[in-house]
Amino acid sequence: MQAFGYDHSGGPEVFEEYDVALPTLKDTDILIENKAFGLNNFERSQRAGVFGATTQRRIPGRDVAGIVKQTGSAITKFHPGDRVVAHGHHSYAEYATSSEANTVLIPAQISFAAAAAIVTPGITAYNALHYFGQAQPGQVVIVKGASGGVGSLAAQLALNLGDQVIGIGSSRNEAYVKSLGVTEYVAYDQQDPAKVLQDQADLVINAAMNGASSQEDIAMVKPGGIIATVAHDEAVVTDKKVQINHISPTREVPDTKALQTIMDLMASQKLTIKIGDVLPFTLAGVRQGHTILENPHAGRVIIAKDAN
Ligand SMILES: NC(=O)c1ccc[n+]([C@@H]2O[C@H](COP(=O)([O-])OP(=O)(O)OC[C@H]3O[C@@H](n4cnc5c(N)ncnc54)[C@H](OP(=O)(O)O)[C@@H]3O)[C@@H](O)[C@H]2O)c1
Repeated sequence: MQAFGYDHSGGPEVFEEYDVALPTLKDTDILIENKAFGLNNFERSQRAGVFGATTQRRIPGRDVAGIVKQTGSAITKFHPGDRVVAHGHHSYAEYATSSEANTVLIPAQISFAAAAAIVTPGITAYNALHYFGQAQPGQVVIVKGASGGVGSLAAQLALNLGDQVIGIGSSRNEAYVKSLGVTEYVAYDQQDPAKVLQDQADLVINAAMNGASSQEDIAMVKPGGIIATVAHDEAVVTDKKVQINHISPTREVPDTKALQTIMDLMASQKLTIKIGDVLPFTLAGVRQGHTILENPHAGRVIIAKDAN
């Protein structure tokens, strides 16, 4: 099968196209014929060697939307022909594998591209709100990076929970974030969120690129509040009584909780995802997608064989 990967770290040009064997299915595996997969900042960092140099061939990717081709003998919930979205394995390829714990059906009205676009950011946003943020209905939730993949989904999940959401992003994305139902917005390039939003939030979800300023989060949260953050600057010093929870992949919440919640909200038009680029399922498409990830961009980047 066709697969895209690399055997050394570097820029987007390290990607090559490989002809590899179909995955060997375990009893608990689902084989998905890939129709669309999403690109993530994690994969950009992984490719660039941020987590360590790559010395062996790697086929990256976890986000996949497609059609069930085959199931292992222990699979009962899915059947060949089902349209599914999954937090699977090696999704930069013609076929990817997943399990029942990270796969859900795609409702008929949702496209493969839209389903692929919500996987990693959706799971991260859901866990940020419910697990790391312990959000309750009626709270004030500040979402930093509300114009991004994770942040836009976190903001919409919080609105659907019944929270008052304040978004932070750049001024060029204010209209987009407000179109999601967020009525209060602070443009970080025009105002200082730490001053304008001082002590306002029960929960700050920091989903800005690399977390931006953690001191700003401490300024914005109420005493006794929670900060759920993608930042990894561990040594934040403060006298304020706040709980700082670092967002990371967790097994405490099944991936299907986030995926099913988001599919349901999308199907009832209560949640949307902004797709910036849908690129061809080719080596050039993958290289172009990673080039886009290198620069500030608007919207998710999707590689699609069949975007619908
Ligand atoms: N730990 C995990 O499990 C996990 C999982 C997924 C993602 N992440 C991380 O989460 C972050 C966001 O990922 P993403 O895919 O959502 O990225 P994205 O779509 O590129 O969004 C980045 C967001 O950051 C905003 N931003 C940049 N500088 C800011 C600032 N100074 N103040 C406030 N907002 C600012 C951007 O706003 P404008 O575009 O309006 O400027 C945009 O909304 C990345 O660092 C990513 O690596 C972590």
